[in-house]
Amino acid sequence: MIATEIAIQEFSALDDDECAQRIAEAKAALGEQLVILGHHYQRDEVFQHADFSGDSLKLSRKAAASAAEYIVFCGVHFMAEVADILSRPEQVAILPDLGAGCSMADMASLARVERAWRELATVLDPEQTVTPVTYINSAADLKAFCGRHGGIVCTSTNARQVLEWSFRQRDKVLFFPDQHLGRNTAYRMGIDLDRLVVWDYELPMGGLSAEQLDKAKVILWKGYCSVHQMFAPQQIDDFLRRYPQAKVISHPEASFEVCQKSDYVGSTEYIIKTIAEAEPGSRWLVGTELNLVNRLRKQFSVEGKSVHFMSPTVCMCSTMFRIDPQHLLWVLENLLEGNLVNQIKVPPKDARQARLALDRMLQVS
Ligand code: 13P
Ligand code: SF4
Repeated sequence: MIATEIAIQEFSALDDDECAQRIAEAKAALGEQLVILGHHYQRDEVFQHADFSGDSLKLSRKAAASAAEYIVFCGVHFMAEVADILSRPEQVAILPDLGAGCSMADMASLARVERAWRELATVLDPEQTVTPVTYINSAADLKAFCGRHGGIVCTSTNARQVLEWSFRQRDKVLFFPDQHLGRNTAYRMGIDLDRLVVWDYELPMGGLSAEQLDKAKVILWKGYCSVHQMFAPQQIDDFLRRYPQAKVISHPEASFEVCQKSDYVGSTEYIIKTIAEAEPGSRWLVGTELNLVNRLRKQFSVEGKSVHFMSPTVCMCSTMFRIDPQHLLWVLENLLEGNLVNQIKVPPKDARQARLALDRMLQVS
């Protein structure tokens, strides 16, 4: 592509209504060359333009199955990387704003995980005894690490099946970057809390003794999602005092204490499905990101269902929020002019090895 790129500054001052109209026109002009994927946490002004919406697992399947030349991912960086890895070489993955990362994914770097693997090798033989499992919320080079060390990727939908597969390969699991998803899933599988140890990546040997590591079933990376960590058991108690009949549903990135107090725990797709299938008139306290909860509140109020956000303070995912209609329009109008902006391209070696770990996940789930 050789035409001169249209600068983002030309779009910054446009209002959302004008963007919406021009996005619709650009989509019509690009036709089947384009698919827009939107994660549930996207704001409505962007979400409305998605051809497919979903959680991380559903969207990675959509990316793998898509025939479109351009896959525009309205989500965060690791999602666009997965789209690039799972799509065919001639397809292009695009992230409208390169600032849309994930603070949890950043908590595990390849250098830190490789150091942990070397340190584990001083007390046990990780290639024989530990399956590395990365949550899909991680950089492509970590998925590649899992691919070349016999490991696998999981999402919040399939974490249990992935852990079951992992224990069929080796006795223990190193789970990164989200300690909460790892703990909540392993505990529900019947593994005692004292066999779930936390690897503090700031400390030598993760701050753990050889005895603790020997006893452990799952070594949990000390990562967390700052959005889901805002939810607290006290918020559930307060709500249930006011509405004793209400049901509580949380994302497994929330803390152990919050998930223990919840009636249901699952991915964004699971949360939507559970409330959709609930009785008319039911009341729900929901522990996940605010854009999704607000959408559920509007969508289900017509069925007489009440949907409440768990935290008393606003907590949106600030990186998901980076994708705005102005950036979406910017990438689409550049495509119309023959310019490719914000392509996400994983280096071929990482992509090959990451694909091994992703394919294992897709087979297991
Ligand atoms: P899911 O959509 O897979 O539930 O994940 C939520 C999330 O935090 C994505 O970053
Ligand atoms: Fe990352 Fe949390 Fe945002 Fe999801 S909600 S993208 S885990 S920071």
